[in-house]
Amino acid sequence: CERINMNQFRFGTGISSYQVEGDRSGRDSCIWDDFCLVKGNIKDKTDGNVAIDFYHRYKEDLQCAKELGIQDFRFSISWPRVIKDDGSVNEEGLDFYSDLVDEIIKDGMNPVITIFHWDLPSVLMKKGGFTNRSIITDFIHYVEVLSKKLSPRVKDWITFNEPQCFIGIGYQKRGQAPKIDCDYITMAKAAHNVLLCHSHAYQILKKDNPNCTVSFVNTFNVPLPYGRKKENMEKELSDILFTVPNTKEEFYTLSIYSDPLYLGSYPEKYLKKTGISEIIEDGDMDLIRKSKPDYLCLNIYTGTYYRNNKEGKTVIYEKKTESEKTDLPWLLRREKSIYYGCKYLYNRYKAPIIITENGGCYHDRLLKDKTVHDKERCQYLRKYLHEVKQCIKEEIDIRGYYYWSLFDNFEWEWGESKRFGLVYIDYKDHLKRYKKDSFFAYQRIIKKSRS
Ligand code: GAL
Repeated sequence: CERINMNQFRFGTGISSYQVEGDRSGRDSCIWDDFCLVKGNIKDKTDGNVAIDFYHRYKEDLQCAKELGIQDFRFSISWPRVIKDDGSVNEEGLDFYSDLVDEIIKDGMNPVITIFHWDLPSVLMKKGGFTNRSIITDFIHYVEVLSKKLSPRVKDWITFNEPQCFIGIGYQKRGQAPKIDCDYITMAKAAHNVLLCHSHAYQILKKDNPNCTVSFVNTFNVPLPYGRKKENMEKELSDILFTVPNTKEEFYTLSIYSDPLYLGSYPEKYLKKTGISEIIEDGDMDLIRKSKPDYLCLNIYTGTYYRNNKEGKTVIYEKKTESEKTDLPWLLRREKSIYYGCKYLYNRYKAPIIITENGGCYHDRLLKDKTVHDKERCQYLRKYLHEVKQCIKEEIDIRGYYYWSLFDNFEWEWGESKRFGLVYIDYKDHLKRYKKDSFFAYQRIIKKSRS
């Protein structure tokens, strides 16, 4: 097992509301409910109506997290469980999160809340979702309600999870909710409104508890050097990562979100694009600048190899080996993505890093004796954590690592068929939970690292 010699280092796991909660009747509708209703959207035809029933089993599930030995328990709040369609507060829904927070603390862990992890209320989508600037007013209301109830018990907040996916994929009809097709400027408006929502939330949460942290999660595919590195290769690859392509692909990249958040302005090339400056109103950039996230929260899963060809040009190297493959086509086990991803980001933004998501998706089998020997996931975990350790050795300021995910859960457009969990969910037998070998592997790593 790897040993990360840092007492302050925080180990954790992540889950998100739509993927685990279930209890559909206790809340109003969200865009993922609507998305699941459309034939063909979810590959195995499942939905999040019951999911893994975390809503009713959270106490038992927290015992499992406690046994794992993590310090940080990351979960998200379902917006339509807290705010009803008519804008009023759903007290029962809010109490659920309040109890959940109490229970996490009682179990000796620290709650890390993601305010928005993709389950936008359907009623707001009807008004255009993030493309409509009026969403800021709705978001402020939602955050005020959360802050009033949960601050100061909650010290660590994340406003948004991965705009690269919910805007970059969702708003250009690419297989995730809301699956609408927007033009470039409309997507830019949506992206800008997300940053403004973050900034307002930042101000509210800090006002209510100046000692809390407020962060923002980005994700990205990491350009990796293949074979012998030529001089300047790292610089070239980092430029590839931060350069904006000036197409709708932009909304899947990093710097249009992270440059304004951490450096205070949009990339120049992006600003020059016709129409962008018109969507930025007076005061917007000042507010964004005043709301720099405390951590660089990064969801890092995989990377793309680049090599130096005969002409000395840097080109993509497409080949993949068998051992890199996982149960999802986009996810290749490339642990160096942690090393280079953290390095590129830290060099550019100089903020402390938390790896808020990283995990392996494998086809697990529950044996007759109720064990799951997920050797590949154990290996995935060790290899990626080894890179975390390497970064720390090189003085890249990484403060935490959260494995995705504690439980198998509803994996968006793939449904229940894809598993990331350290704990197996038996969907065929009353959602019973079984700890996989990787659970014990992670448990040992945490124990050793903190001893
Ligand atoms: C992330 C997402 C998670 C989870 C994970 C694995 O993009 O935030 O909700 O599904 O990917 O695919």
